[in-house]
Amino acid sequence: MSLYEHHMLKEIMEQPGILAALAKRSRHLLEERGAPLWSGEVAGCERILFLACGTSYHASLAGKWMIETLAGIPCQVEYAHEYRMAAQLPLENCLAIGLSQSGETRDSLEAMRKAKEAGARTLAICNVANSTAIRLAHAAFLLEAGPEKAIASTKVFSAQYVATFLLALHLGLLRGRLPAEWVQKQLQQLAALPDKMRQVLENDGFVKEAALVLREATQLLMIGKGPAFPIALEGALKLKETAYLHAEGFAGGEFRHGPMALIEPSVPTLMLMPALPSEGFELMKGTLGEIRKSGGPIWALTQKPLEEEEGVRAHTLPEADIFLSPLLLVAPLQLLAYRLACSRGLNVDTPRALCKAVTSDPTSTP
Ligand code: AGP
Repeated sequence: MSLYEHHMLKEIMEQPGILAALAKRSRHLLEERGAPLWSGEVAGCERILFLACGTSYHASLAGKWMIETLAGIPCQVEYAHEYRMAAQLPLENCLAIGLSQSGETRDSLEAMRKAKEAGARTLAICNVANSTAIRLAHAAFLLEAGPEKAIASTKVFSAQYVATFLLALHLGLLRGRLPAEWVQKQLQQLAALPDKMRQVLENDGFVKEAALVLREATQLLMIGKGPAFPIALEGALKLKETAYLHAEGFAGGEFRHGPMALIEPSVPTLMLMPALPSEGFELMKGTLGEIRKSGGPIWALTQKPLEEEEGVRAHTLPEADIFLSPLLLVAPLQLLAYRLACSRGLNVDTPRALCKAVTSDPTSTP
């Protein structure tokens, strides 16, 4: 019998072990030029097109940031359902990556078929062996995160994140952009991450406190920049689908272009502040200051100490490389969604209006 009452909590807690297993597999990157990681050829592309939905779409956005930064390959991320409706354009020298937990999401499969027809090579990054996505694609990466039973995807997001990180390192190595020693250091940091994530999951006072305060809230704004932006989107999705809280993720820079108008004393904001390179962290601090002036309560998950200003409740996360920090940010957000859903008396594992894999198109038949 499981130690945990719910699948969602069990799967959140499994994440350090999954990261450790992926870190172990990552040795192939240096030892065998990545070959055993991808069952098929993924190199040689001049552009990458990600096709996915929901949580897998958010992991794709993170993948784009990493591949562009580390391998210098232009990436495009499309909602699979929108790509199905878009004009059919040729995809020469393009690698289309279908990210999917189940490998059975209808929109993602149709989008992959369309990309294949347009001339792309296809790679499925998927958690289910022998799924349609894996069989459909030219190449595959099996996440091996174990069955994910809760409807809300948690551990698979982290596994997808690591898979795209490894792909970014692989492509960066092949293109001669990344020295092998630097990649080696990144892999060492990946191997050290499970302990840090365990620490984040165990040190959950901040999450419990936030869940208590948010119990009666009707909305939450979540802000992240660069690699933390997809995490803001993903954290907000977890809160919507399991705790039925209207949460929205925003990119830090975009906040001043309209959404700032939403801030008022009753609207809480959660700032995601990893140790961003260049002036990114300072810009986030600037946004935090502007929100504070408008009077909204602020919570912050940060990797650099923040002066405990009035109205700001900050929680400091362990240090990690910027390519891995998003994993330390997403874990407390998953836990927050879980705790809030429990405190609201909701069915966390099978929330309303959702199924594990959306395998059909919407129909007007009642
Ligand atoms: C995740 O928490 C959601 N239940 C949902 O957004 C899901 O990620 C989406 O439907 C895509 O599913 P897939 O990864 O199995 O393709």
